[in-house]
Amino acid sequence: MGWLDDKVALVVGGGSGIGRAVVDAFVAEGARVGVLERDPDRAAGLESYGDRVCPVVGDATRWEDNVRAVVATVTAFGGLDVLATFVGVFDFYTRLEEIPPERLLPACEEVFRTNVASYLLSTKAALPQLLRRPGSSVVFTVSTSGFYPGRGGVLYVASKFAVRGLVVQLAHELAPRVRVNGVAPGGTLGTSLRGLAALGLSGRSLADVPDREEELQRRTPLRVALRPEDHAAAYVYLASDRARGVTGTILHSDGGVGVRG
Ligand SMILES: NC(=O)c1ccc[n+]([C@@H]2O[C@H](COP(=O)([O-])OP(=O)(O)OC[C@H]3O[C@@H](n4cnc5c(N)ncnc54)[C@H](O)[C@@H]3O)[C@@H](O)[C@H]2O)c1
Repeated sequence: MGWLDDKVALVVGGGSGIGRAVVDAFVAEGARVGVLERDPDRAAGLESYGDRVCPVVGDATRWEDNVRAVVATVTAFGGLDVLATFVGVFDFYTRLEEIPPERLLPACEEVFRTNVASYLLSTKAALPQLLRRPGSSVVFTVSTSGFYPGRGGVLYVASKFAVRGLVVQLAHELAPRVRVNGVAPGGTLGTSLRGLAALGLSGRSLADVPDREEELQRRTPLRVALRPEDHAAAYVYLASDRARGVTGTILHSDGGVGVRG
């Protein structure tokens, strides 16, 4: 018996990193999974799952692409119980003082369009289907940056605080029909989160940061450098019926950053 037997999920940004680990975990727990992914090679990499995963190439910041992913998932698997979102872009700790004035508004637009508006578009597109299934839920990806300063620059931190707002307000709006929760991963190895194009950072990726493993171990009370698969069970739990009484909550999967003191 899997925790997600008979469930259908749509994972947005599921081709790499934490989203990819969640696709793996959802399938292992019995779910059938649609994936919306912008990178065609990463989407193609999911084809090894055969008929348990339905990849769709598209951009989660576009309404039509979200609708296409929902339609493809429902056509393949007959409905939708779970939406989980992972799309993100990073500011590589850029401080306000370092952002040229002419780049500030484009940078805000890019980070909020990607990290916040895409989550709303995905939810809006999935909602008619989620409302048809009892016990349906949404799980958003927050970050330790949604709680504390310093693990991103002001744009990224503000965008992740905004995702907390989505969790709380949508949990309120959608109860009792759809549960809405979040997972807040800490710094994670083995992902390729990209930088903001508006700040000239699109060539940078977290995968290229040197000595990241040692740095993550040093600054977490549990002395762990977490990998995408370390967060996946939190998403499985929140998506499952075992969390049927849980909404408006964010699980911290971060090595204990909140008790660092
Ligand atoms: N890596 C970390 O240390 C870390 C820590 C805390 C939170 N997070 C958050 O976790 C989430 C996943 O990050 P990751 O590190 O696994 O990144 P990742 O880049 O490895 O994975 C993100 C995936 O989303 C896809 N994607 C990006 N923009 C898209 C779009 N507009 N439409 C469709 N697909 C798109 C990418 O191609 C990629 O496959 C992000 O929201 C990030 O902010 C990451």
